[in-house]
Amino acid sequence: MSEDPLHRLYINLGQQGITDLVAAFYKQVPGDDILGPMYPSDEMDAAEARLRDFLIFRLGGPQTYIEQRGHPRLRMRHMPFAIDVNARNRWIALMTNALDEIEISAKDRELMLAFFEHLATFMINRQ
Ligand code: HEM
Repeated sequence: MSEDPLHRLYINLGQQGITDLVAAFYKQVPGDDILGPMYPSDEMDAAEARLRDFLIFRLGGPQTYIEQRGHPRLRMRHMPFAIDVNARNRWIALMTNALDEIEISAKDRELMLAFFEHLATFMINRQ
């Protein structure tokens, strides 16, 4: 048994739930005034796959992300993007909307949001 509490999310949501969550997040990105310009418009499907595979890996599923991208080094990979507190809060807002669209228990939703909020704060790299 895994001891990482986040791994219950993969067990409960499955690949389909995580795929649906990431799709619900990404469909809002192009029209977003803060995040839209930051994401590569010609590569949105690939970007969506990267976030999906990262979450599947991090929540306890197959390691496809690691095989394709190596160690996540997420803070470093986000350095080219100017992430201030507004961008951080918007990312969380879109992910909160996405969580509203999938079937998830209140307890799992809380766990997932706490994970996202923590990591999103860690990604802030501009004042
Ligand atoms: C704080 C606000 C955030 C902003 C503005 C942001 C923005 C971006 C942008 C513009 C990209 C490039 C898209 C691509 O080509 O893949 C990206 C990639 C990525 N982001 Fe974020 N992100 C944020 C937070 C997060 C969080 C909280 C996570 C994890 C839960 C995350 C996970 C990823 C991953 C896995 C990639 C792909 C990395 C790679 O393999 O190249 N991001 N992000």
